[in-house]
Amino acid sequence: MELTAEQCQRYERDGYLIFPDLFSPEEVAILRGEVDRVSQIDSECIFREEAHGPAKTIFRMHEADGDTASPAFHAACQTPRILGTAQRVLGEESLYMHHCKVNLKAAIQGSAWPWHQDFGAWHLDGIAEPHLTTMVVLLDAATEFNGCLYLLPESHREGRHDPYFDETTAYKLWSVGPATMRDMISRHPDPVPVTGRAGTAAIFHCNNLHASGHNLSAHDRCQAYFCFNTVSNRPADVENPRPDYVRSQNWQPMKLGPDNGILQTEAVLGSAT
Ligand code: SIN
Ligand code: MN
Repeated sequence: MELTAEQCQRYERDGYLIFPDLFSPEEVAILRGEVDRVSQIDSECIFREEAHGPAKTIFRMHEADGDTASPAFHAACQTPRILGTAQRVLGEESLYMHHCKVNLKAAIQGSAWPWHQDFGAWHLDGIAEPHLTTMVVLLDAATEFNGCLYLLPESHREGRHDPYFDETTAYKLWSVGPATMRDMISRHPDPVPVTGRAGTAAIFHCNNLHASGHNLSAHDRCQAYFCFNTVSNRPADVENPRPDYVRSQNWQPMKLGPDNGILQTEAVLGSAT
């Protein structure tokens, strides 16, 4: 997938792009199966809605090592559809993954993410420039009823807002307060729901304001987030840095892999059994 100049301009203007059905049902089934497998593990990389409850966030499935590692996620993050798209919107080839996470919202139990900018937390990680982007891939169908992600168009253009630490959710988060959000929503086009079939993807700027609500439906909502930074913008030392699974120190430039890499990992696993 090669982004057109018009798509790149739209990304600059709106702060995001949406790609319906970017990944096939076969690829989604492999990645979703890996999430089911890894979510059973007891790991510091997994946050749950409550102790022993359903998984809410799983970090670090993309690395080649570690207890949450998944070969299919390792292959996915190197595909031209993911890494190549991030390289194109950031205008640089030398990228690494600040982190990769899978956010789950179990039917009925899956809870909200308050309005925030990813750069709110990442700046506190020691990253100087808002030169990061996130590719999100829906691994279940997302609807407004099951807690889809909402993006506030053009909001990235106003830069970073000072965040507050919201401790009301199962995964505590640097968030943007209600007064700023009332103002931002009133002055921008309506928030855009990222909905669609599993396999749909979107890419969004690290200063784009986004949020999602509770999953009120009977269907789970699972999506994978691949967050890229340029190697030259890697974090400076900070006091009490967050753990490596969320503030990666693997600053090796990532290399593009084959676009059918996810399917290939399944072929290898299949032949080993
Ligand atoms: C996030 O912004 O990190 C998560 C939002 C979501 O998965 O709904
Ligand atoms: Mn976010």
